[in-house]
Amino acid sequence: MEKIDVILGLQWGDEGKGKIVDVFTPKYDIITRFQGGPNAGHTLEINGKKHILHTIPSGIFHKNTTNIIGNGVIIDPYVLLNEINELKEKNIDASRNLLISKKAHLILPTHRLLDAAYESAMGERKIGSTLKGIGPTYTDKISRKGIRVGDMNYDYFQSKYEALKKNHFDIINRYDFDYSNICIDGLTIEEYEKKWFEGLEMIKSFQLIDSETYINKSLAEGKSVLAEGAQGTLLDIDFGSYPYVTSSNTVTAGVCSGLGVPPTSIGNIYGVFKAYCTRVGSGPFPTELSDEPGEKLRNNGYEYGATTGRPRRCGWLDLPALKYSIMINGVSNLVMTKADVLDVFEQISVCTHYQFNGETIDYLPFYVKEEEIKPFYRDLSGWLSKISDMRTPDDFPPHLLDYIKFIEEQVNVPITIVSVGPGRDQVVYK
Ligand code: GDP
Ligand code: IMO
Ligand code: MG
Repeated sequence: MEKIDVILGLQWGDEGKGKIVDVFTPKYDIITRFQGGPNAGHTLEINGKKHILHTIPSGIFHKNTTNIIGNGVIIDPYVLLNEINELKEKNIDASRNLLISKKAHLILPTHRLLDAAYESAMGERKIGSTLKGIGPTYTDKISRKGIRVGDMNYDYFQSKYEALKKNHFDIINRYDFDYSNICIDGLTIEEYEKKWFEGLEMIKSFQLIDSETYINKSLAEGKSVLAEGAQGTLLDIDFGSYPYVTSSNTVTAGVCSGLGVPPTSIGNIYGVFKAYCTRVGSGPFPTELSDEPGEKLRNNGYEYGATTGRPRRCGWLDLPALKYSIMINGVSNLVMTKADVLDVFEQISVCTHYQFNGETIDYLPFYVKEEEIKPFYRDLSGWLSKISDMRTPDDFPPHLLDYIKFIEEQVNVPITIVSVGPGRDQVVYK
């Protein structure tokens, strides 16, 4: 029986998971997403061309690999239709190697309206959601009102859809929220709904499977499977900075419920982290830099959201947070991305502890008010050289090797891959 390997993010998302999954794909028969939805934006750069995936696993560019959207994922047929059409324009026919779980839940157009209504009602306390309908869809799943992909083949589907839509409008009408002016991608809600149903028809033409059986059988047959995480550990519904989180379990445990595989089937767990930190949306971020180095990180790392285009908040690497994520996920190997973004810094700081309530601590407190937590930094020398063309650790400047060694010693897990640019070939194996 093969084990299922996992790649997931250890920070607040956008660690470069998509790129790393694409790099790993040739070693696997199956790549599968297990949670989240089109709030994700996974960027792959192949031969200088950028591709952004939201729902489809990042193995789709390899035609011999099967890609599965697992039961824990939530799907917006409108977004999926656009993704599939964009791939078609690049001569990639996703129907040849994309399978979809019947048990994955659907994001309805009105889930997106609800997301917008809730966020607008929160005012300054808003989550900073991607407005893709994620929270409301998972809410309906948990409260047992949701609609699943497999439901569309039954005659009760239309009445179930109408009932849920009515329920959503009943809620929205209780809010001071004018949805008549809402435009999603330039479409009115009615136009959006029309495209949504077109997306649903397209999904019908795909192979809909019991993905839990498919994946377990594949493992038993000796096939290799890789689970691709979305978001990051610090956005996990249980372990992230609640309530400034997403609505799914983004951690290794989520692989079991999001795919229907037993914990004993989990193999290597690759934790991806950026050589610094970014966060998009609201919530605590102890090492955030609002001044010049923050700007420099944003400009050099091109830190703008792949899904929403929002500028990402930037800061130095946070080791207490990284250690916490490693613990929760049981990370066996670390992948450090965007090391090249630090090329231009004479000095690089790394947070080793926090000062909180007059004490020095090395863990994330239950409740964090930004002004009450102060990071303690260790300053390291920058390498001030261009590393994006380097392909072996022997080429690395000594100060980069020191940076890697320092992190490894602090977290006690080896960094086995360093990514030095967005391209497929820009990886260094240690
Ligand atoms: P994901 O959501 O974790 O897949 O990450 P995103 O795609 O949202 O954001 C990562 C961004 O960094 C994308 O624009 C990638 O093309 C880019 N990227 C990934 N790895 C590297 C790297 O090592 N160096 C640089 N400069 N960019 C990278
Ligand atoms: P990938 O997979 C970065 C953030 C949002 C917001 C919070 C809740 O590309 O790493 P949601 O729409 O899920 O209700 O938003 O989570 N968020 C992400 N941030 N990368 C992502 O995905 C994210 N998905 C959600 O910005 O703060
Ligand atoms: Mg992203």
